Amino acid sequence: MGRGACRMLALVIISRLFVSVAASCSNQGSFPVRNISKMAQSNFGRGGLSHITVAGALLHGMKEVELWIQTFAPGSRTPIHRHSCEEVFLVLKGRGTLLIASSSQRSPGKPQEYPIYANSTFSIPVNDPHQVWNTDKNEDLQMLAVISRPPVKVFIYNDWSMPHTAAKLKFPYYWDQECFHDAKDEL
Ligand SMILES: *[C@@H]1O[C@H](CO)[C@@H](O)[C@H](O)[C@H]1NC(C)=O
Ligand SMILES: *[C@@H]1O[C@H](CO)[C@@H](O)[C@H](O)[C@H]1NC(C)=O
Repeated sequence: MGRGACRMLALVIISRLFVSVAASCSNQGSFPVRNISKMAQSNFGRGGLSHITVAGALLHGMKEVELWIQTFAPGSRTPIHRHSCEEVFLVLKGRGTLLIASSSQRSPGKPQEYPIYANSTFSIPVNDPHQVWNTDKNEDLQMLAVISRPPVKVFIYNDWSMPHTAAKLKFPYYWDQECFHDAKDEL
């Protein structure tokens, strides 16, 4: 297949995917119970991540909270980031490190480090820059995360010394992108 034909085919496949995903946006469904094993999961371009929006604003019409299940392969981590919503984690499997800094200085500065492990829970105060890291060499780190005030608006830092004002806004966030254009009229 020539390069042009290949590109065309890829475009067709991508647009099909988009349509099938978009069709399920903001779809509560008539049956209230959903099987997590059947829900879409993706790495959304971040190596080692598996993210499922279990209950979401854009996907399921949630208004106040959103629930995620995230699995981090050994060595993988979130970007250093902050958001102006609350976030609570419950570690289901594995272990890792939470790095967290304060929003009170000009830039995050050296973060505090805390071990996290299966059956531990932690919450992230509004606007505190943080990073979750699977520091284990063998095991996945799996967490349930709840955020308030969805959809999430994420500010990303290149490093801990970057001024808060220079952190880059990513909105809609990667897993909200597919449904954002459908849903924004209702938000
Ligand atoms: C949930 O989905 C998984 C994967 O398709 C399936 O194996 C399992 O039986 C389902 N559970 C129920 C209770 O339907
Ligand atoms: C987490 O808690 C559950 C329920 O109490 C228990 O069965 C499990 O062994 C615990 N896991 C770890 C790693 O402590």
